[in-house]
Amino acid sequence: MSGVAATPVMATDRTMTVLDQEIADLAPRPLVAARLLEALGNTESAVGDLSRLIAMDKGITAEVLRLVNSTYYGFPRQVTTIGQAVVILGFNTVRNLALAVSTFDTFDAGRNAPIDRNQFWEHSIGVAVCAQILARRKRLAVKVVEEAFLGGLLHDIGKLFLCQHFPDDYRAAIDEAWRQKVRVTVMEQRYCGASHPLIGARIAEKWNLPPSLAAAIGRHHDVSRAQDNFEMVALVNASDALTNASKIGLVGDPLPPTLSPEVAAWLGVDARMLQEVQEELKVKVDDAREFLRMAAGK
Ligand SMILES: [Fe+2]
Ligand SMILES: [Fe+2]
Repeated sequence: MSGVAATPVMATDRTMTVLDQEIADLAPRPLVAARLLEALGNTESAVGDLSRLIAMDKGITAEVLRLVNSTYYGFPRQVTTIGQAVVILGFNTVRNLALAVSTFDTFDAGRNAPIDRNQFWEHSIGVAVCAQILARRKRLAVKVVEEAFLGGLLHDIGKLFLCQHFPDDYRAAIDEAWRQKVRVTVMEQRYCGASHPLIGARIAEKWNLPPSLAAAIGRHHDVSRAQDNFEMVALVNASDALTNASKIGLVGDPLPPTLSPEVAAWLGVDARMLQEVQEELKVKVDDAREFLRMAAGK
């Protein structure tokens, strides 16, 4: 085991080098995503701005229209422009679709990825939907409710990066985590050189995501260090636990997250309310299943 101590240092250097190269290649789509997020606080010129932003990327435009025209939404007439979609579905829904599509497409770990792509996105959609449910129940501002969806969608983005760039190391990290029954973040650090929250925080920083989202991505397994952005981190942390407890999606961790007493106290939830949230979550994720399948390109 003498080589183990040296591995993380080397792997960290390698991971960060590859990450920085990858971020440079990722520029166009996250730029659209980041500008969509900026447009969030600026709803007055929403339709025109959003349509123009999405139209910057023909691939995103085509996929958003494909989703809008899917039987999930069930419109009798073909929706042919983003502007129409915004009028019919609303600004926030179209923006979330565009963000989901741009994020899903950014990372493609291939068919033999260590984490099953469908399971991963089912988990991400589950956490996104759950964070929205909790934020609404807590009567937080609309902007926070919308951001909570994005925080949930993106919270494990670092896992996708690790799966894509270090598939063999990541598979070994998962195997070892299961053998030792420890959190996968511990083995990510050992085998890949950085844990998924750390990598995710770095991506969030490079994409210029709002601080609350960066915190949710970087601290979702470590609420006690959230400080300024406790609200968003707590929403994502609780949703991660509740989505796992509801058996929605799988992301390879032998010790799934549990709801901490600190977060449960902040949410003000008791066992009966948690049951209600989980039931609402299951219904909403079932509704979103076709959307999920299409967005994942299956
Ligand atoms: Fe995570
Ligand atoms: Fe997660």
